[in-house]
Amino acid sequence: MAQQPHMKTKTKSAQELRSEVASLLPQRVAGYKVFTLGELLLQRDEYFVHITWPVKDGHHSHTISADGFLRALMRDVAWGFFYGIVNFDHVFGTRNLYGKVEFFCGRYNDAYHENGLSYVEVFESPVAMKRIKEILADWVNEGFDPFAAPVETGSAFGEKNGSNEKAIDRYRVPTRRMPGIPGDSPLRSDATGHPVNRAFADVGQDDPRIEAEPGFEGELHAFSLFKYLSRSDVTWNPSVTSVCKASLFCPTTEEYILPIIHGNDRVEWFVQLSDEINWEIRDRETGRPRARVVMKPGDVAAMPADIRHQGFARKRSMLLVWENATPDLPKRYERGELKPWPVDF
Ligand code: PHB
Ligand code: FE
Repeated sequence: MAQQPHMKTKTKSAQELRSEVASLLPQRVAGYKVFTLGELLLQRDEYFVHITWPVKDGHHSHTISADGFLRALMRDVAWGFFYGIVNFDHVFGTRNLYGKVEFFCGRYNDAYHENGLSYVEVFESPVAMKRIKEILADWVNEGFDPFAAPVETGSAFGEKNGSNEKAIDRYRVPTRRMPGIPGDSPLRSDATGHPVNRAFADVGQDDPRIEAEPGFEGELHAFSLFKYLSRSDVTWNPSVTSVCKASLFCPTTEEYILPIIHGNDRVEWFVQLSDEINWEIRDRETGRPRARVVMKPGDVAAMPADIRHQGFARKRSMLLVWENATPDLPKRYERGELKPWPVDF
């Protein structure tokens, strides 16, 4: 009987298997680049983004509408992964570990997590940031602005069609104390390319008169916040307008849906300055419903440190988000040193 040739078998490493699988994947779908981030596979097509992650016996996938995905990704890029958790939807998102960032699939969704379908992977923040900027640059078509209200921008859909670098290169306004102070971020006017938004045509455009006592000239500053906000060309993008130690006023103009479901890692105060926003509030860890809050002009709410929330605004509205940037706050809440709500009535 003929002898079988001796065969030396070698088990493939996970890395070898990964690169073998990667070499079998298409480079592009509908013109869009296919991306990996660690073990995650991200693909977009004409209408959807598909995210695939490893589970115990193989892989699991999740589909998100491309417009919503790009609006959420834009916020992660512009806000440097923001505070706490940025849920793109009920399954996929990022958690800021401040220096590192966790990407998760189903981790903060009981139905996935309790059934072994969740996945998390932690990256150095600059590594993940580089990759998500590449994704945004490739997947945003010409004419689509992920920061704009849906009625003020073109479509996110269809086969790959150009790009919109100008739109995706916007970051939070880096105000050091207040806009308009010499050397600080600029105020907005027609001359700076910020016309009054269609929804705020009735907002007064007068500037405050500043009358300083002799000797205090140049030390007093004021600007009209309503005028400033009426000229915002973006939605759901809190930008710093006053800094007092760790106290940041971050007003923003809101229209349609907050593109992320934000999982707070500290208390946030909301002051509704105009129109109306409805908030859907859920438990941060499990996603179980907690409350609905309807905010009308003048209403003030403290959003607890252990919730996730998403806002809905039929008309463009002005909202003041008051953030506490004290560096060790998330740890103090985690250790139970601070209650997740700021006041007891
Ligand atoms: C929030 O998560 O508190 C938040 C984020 C963006 C906004 C408003 C509120 O535009
Ligand atoms: Fe929030």
